[in-house]
Amino acid sequence: MHSFSLARLAPLFLAASSSARFLMYADEWHPTRPTSPEDRAGIDHVVLAFAMANNTAAFQPKVPISTIRSEYPDAKVMIAVGGWGDTIGFSQATRSESGISQFAADVAMMLENTGADGVDIDWEYPGGNGADYKQTPNSLKTYEIPAFPKLLSAIRTAIGPTKLLSIAVPGKAGDMLAFTPSTGPQIWPSVDYVNIMSYDLMNRRDTITAHHTSVNGTLTTIQAYLALGCPPEKINLGFAFYAKFFTVSPSCTASSALGCPIVEAEDALTGADTLTSGAWTFESHHMTPIDVSLLTPSYDGTCGAQKNTKCPNSCCSQYGNCGTSAEHCSGACQHAFGVGCTDPDVFGSWMVAREQGVLDEEEGGMYFLDEEEGLFWTWDTPELMRRKFMEIVRPLGLGGVMAWSLGEDSHDWSHIRTIAEELGKGNWAEGARPRPGVEEPFEEVPGYEEDSVYDEVPVFEKEPVYEDGPVYDEVPECEDEPVYEEDTDWGWLRI
Ligand SMILES: *[C@@H]1O[C@H](CO)[C@@H](O)[C@H](O)[C@H]1NC(C)=O
Ligand SMILES: *[C@@H]1O[C@H](CO)[C@@H](O)[C@H](O)[C@H]1NC(C)=O
Repeated sequence: MHSFSLARLAPLFLAASSSARFLMYADEWHPTRPTSPEDRAGIDHVVLAFAMANNTAAFQPKVPISTIRSEYPDAKVMIAVGGWGDTIGFSQATRSESGISQFAADVAMMLENTGADGVDIDWEYPGGNGADYKQTPNSLKTYEIPAFPKLLSAIRTAIGPTKLLSIAVPGKAGDMLAFTPSTGPQIWPSVDYVNIMSYDLMNRRDTITAHHTSVNGTLTTIQAYLALGCPPEKINLGFAFYAKFFTVSPSCTASSALGCPIVEAEDALTGADTLTSGAWTFESHHMTPIDVSLLTPSYDGTCGAQKNTKCPNSCCSQYGNCGTSAEHCSGACQHAFGVGCTDPDVFGSWMVAREQGVLDEEEGGMYFLDEEEGLFWTWDTPELMRRKFMEIVRPLGLGGVMAWSLGEDSHDWSHIRTIAEELGKGNWAEGARPRPGVEEPFEEVPGYEEDSVYDEVPVFEKEPVYEDGPVYDEVPECEDEPVYEEDTDWGWLRI
């Protein structure tokens, strides 16, 4: 990676000689993994999530790395640190030079102990707007912004040039607090990949309905990073293997579904989830109609489609536990598997949304407003994912894609297969030319002599020529954007 490599060549040439990456997060809350080779094909990086940011040195992944290697023999295996809500370790480390060095040393130790090929830093987010933004305001986190590039540089030094270092970065312009014209150039050289979370573009801090990961929204996000000088070949465009739902105000109808007010999805004072919105993964038990005649009463307090049990006298929570608290009986309470849900029937609504989803051709997003349940749905389909390859990944010469997360596509692995298929077509601007052979990667480059022996290849010394790419005239003004926030997700509250 950091010795001489194709990454030093001009993007056009890079595109001609390598396929784009497919980096897949595998999270501990959705542990199902594909068992057949067809459903594993194409993935060349598996990122295990998460190690806690304040405890990396002692971290051991729940699934042994050797297991992942046996399933994905050609993939790099990495460990993600942090994730939504886990910022304490980052905030503490970046208060001092010694904290930064210690953090970097701990990460190096983690890679040594586990044998992982690299680390993904998933700090949501340096500079603030995290899960605790109401408790610890952004004004108390400004020190994190200049410290973030230093942290990455220290990690790079500690892990050396051959281990991989990537970062997961925010999709909303308002959350890009630490990604500015001055920090950008200090960030990109330290990292191999920039995993852009081009999803959750509508989240629970918004007040009106919008697509959460449309083609257009994704393009806008990617352009924001390109405008900050992020090399396109380091970018992985992010896909989300889940739909999002929000409870809308009673005034919303199917004909005013987009841009329509939602009911307050987080508490204005505390930032707490009001349990009126959420993420709905593409897992089997979310996608398969329920046969209620098969359900038996639960005797162990758990419930749901995976066990085919229902709570005789209480609600079945989103996470499959019987109970009567507000957390059990709202927030995607499972209506079919218990009694007493007080919220809309999210599962039932999703079954309708999937059937009757409306395609917004222009924005490139699928959505549905369920007037009966009062829910707005927004999600990505395989067809729209193909458009992201056609309209973004290939023309902008991006280095690859990433997706959150492996287990969330367990229904039929169709989103993973779509990505693998698109990558198999090659990374050409038109998407039409077949993937070329890689046998003679240097043959078209002037100045290269087949028999010459170079220690370093002189014609490749200059940096990639990004000017060849599309020209962007809109530079986002990150500081002036309204303060939005990434959604709390299913990993956070698990009742
Ligand atoms: C890490 O931080 C969490 C809070 O996020 C805390 O509960 C835990 O004790 C800390 N662990 C260590 C090893 O400091
Ligand atoms: C695409 O997104 C941008 C920025 O979010 C917005 O200004 C523009 O109107 C959108 N384009 C379309 C076709 O809706």
